[in-house]
Amino acid sequence: MMGVEEQKRAAGEAAAALVAAHMTVGLGTGSTAAWFVKALAVRALDIRCVSTSKATADLAVSLGMTVIELDAVSVIDLTIDGADEIGPGLSLIKGGGAALLREKLVWEASRRCVVIADAGKRVPRLGAFPLPIEVVAFGHTSTARRICDAFAECDMGIAPRLRIRDGGPVITDGGNYIYDAACGAILDPALLADALKSVTGVVDHGLFLDLADAALIATDSGVEHLTP
Ligand code: 5RP
Repeated sequence: MMGVEEQKRAAGEAAAALVAAHMTVGLGTGSTAAWFVKALAVRALDIRCVSTSKATADLAVSLGMTVIELDAVSVIDLTIDGADEIGPGLSLIKGGGAALLREKLVWEASRRCVVIADAGKRVPRLGAFPLPIEVVAFGHTSTARRICDAFAECDMGIAPRLRIRDGGPVITDGGNYIYDAACGAILDPALLADALKSVTGVVDHGLFLDLADAALIATDSGVEHLTP
């Protein structure tokens, strides 16, 4: 039986095979995406990459890859990234690594997005993984109250919690804070996505809906290719 880390590695390696020379490639964030970046570096293709986080950019550069800014490209050919949950229709929760804003910006600038994951990430319904919400630091407790109101509009009595690490708020690459909402189950992800986006101070949330074109999910019997 494959362990979770072996599955992540298998998914990352399968994704690296999708990349062709001269592509502009979006690099995701997290441990699965790191396996992809390592496998891609081994291929030594003539490509340029746009990273979804400083951590991934540092890894890619350390492996000799060319990383450019998102503003330097008009379109990204292919983005490969991990996810925290993969639900029906390849709806996703992302942002466990606090990179959801840059991830969504890179995904939305991409012709094609492929999500890679171990088998444990597939769920029948989103929400067991706490939904990350990126908020502007200024007035964040006030924003958090209005996030509660947004949840209430969706008939969800949820109070998101500020993500803390090493005694202080986690600060994203964009200088924002992350709140995590323990939803349990998200019955209408599109409704919730709209409600959260309408809150001033919310920069973005970890619901990635209608963005993934395919998924590569590693299981004990091989890497499964899924489409929405
Ligand atoms: C980072 C993400 C990651 O893709 C997600 O957290 C999955 O991480 P991992 O591959 O380490 O399980 O969304 O913001």
